[in-house]
Amino acid sequence: MIQLNNVSKWYGSFQVLTDCTTEVKKGEVVVVCGPSGSGKSTLIKTVNGLEPIQQGSITIDGVSVTDRKTNLSKLRSRVGMVFQHFELFPHLSIVQNLTLAQIKVLGRGRDEATAKGLKLLDRVGLRAHADKFPGQLSGGQQQRVAIARALSMDPIAMLFDEPTSALDPEMINEVLDVMVELAQEGMTMMCVTHEMGFAKKVAHRVIFMDRGLIVEDDRKDAFFENPKSDRAKDFLAKILH
Ligand SMILES: Nc1ncnc2c1ncn2[C@@H]1O[C@H](COP(=O)(O)OP(=O)(O)O)[C@@H](O)[C@H]1O
Ligand SMILES: [Mg+2]
Repeated sequence: MIQLNNVSKWYGSFQVLTDCTTEVKKGEVVVVCGPSGSGKSTLIKTVNGLEPIQQGSITIDGVSVTDRKTNLSKLRSRVGMVFQHFELFPHLSIVQNLTLAQIKVLGRGRDEATAKGLKLLDRVGLRAHADKFPGQLSGGQQQRVAIARALSMDPIAMLFDEPTSALDPEMINEVLDVMVELAQEGMTMMCVTHEMGFAKKVAHRVIFMDRGLIVEDDRKDAFFENPKSDRAKDFLAKILH
């Protein structure tokens, strides 16, 4: 579903990604981890063309992200993205946040979009909050709305960039629970996260990055039981203890 071939990227003279090659198959859940500054966010943003690359190629569902002729906004409308900060529209109600792109981008009618939005709110346990504004919800609730909003577009894959790292500890699980459910339903997911419990529970593979390189890209069990590189061993020792 997602294919990265020899992706390299520079910010000026600083090389942020070096020859990154990996793939995410349909229905696969891949967790990306690694130290701060290793290029995880940059990598995930290149996947839907939010960050251009200078070398290599990326395709999603057979469509080239890096080809200039590709309609990137159309492609992005099919790939859900959830960031660390919820980025809901503060002046719109929760249900309006969920219907806006369905109506404007997918051309759905208001009734259809509202029905879909409410169904998804139900699914993330927030049906009762439909008419509130984002500022009236907790961080964990807002992040669940952000996930529901992404799902409202019927994405072919979901990208997450540390969706729980800005949340208070007691709210992390309510967001992870929604992500676990999605994974178990077979959604194709690429998730930057340091929540190793999540990785152990639902990831098929784990990618470990350091200084712009994909240092490990392995099946989950192999990664946790027997990381190959010292850098991954050090990282796991720090994060698991
Ligand atoms: N817009 C930018 N311009 C210049 N350098 C950047 C920019 N964004 C990120 N970087 C640098 O690229 C490196 C990787 O950043 P990032 O992908 O955010 O890492 P991570 O998500 O793993 O913490 C860091 O050294 C960061 O300072
Ligand atoms: Mg990051």
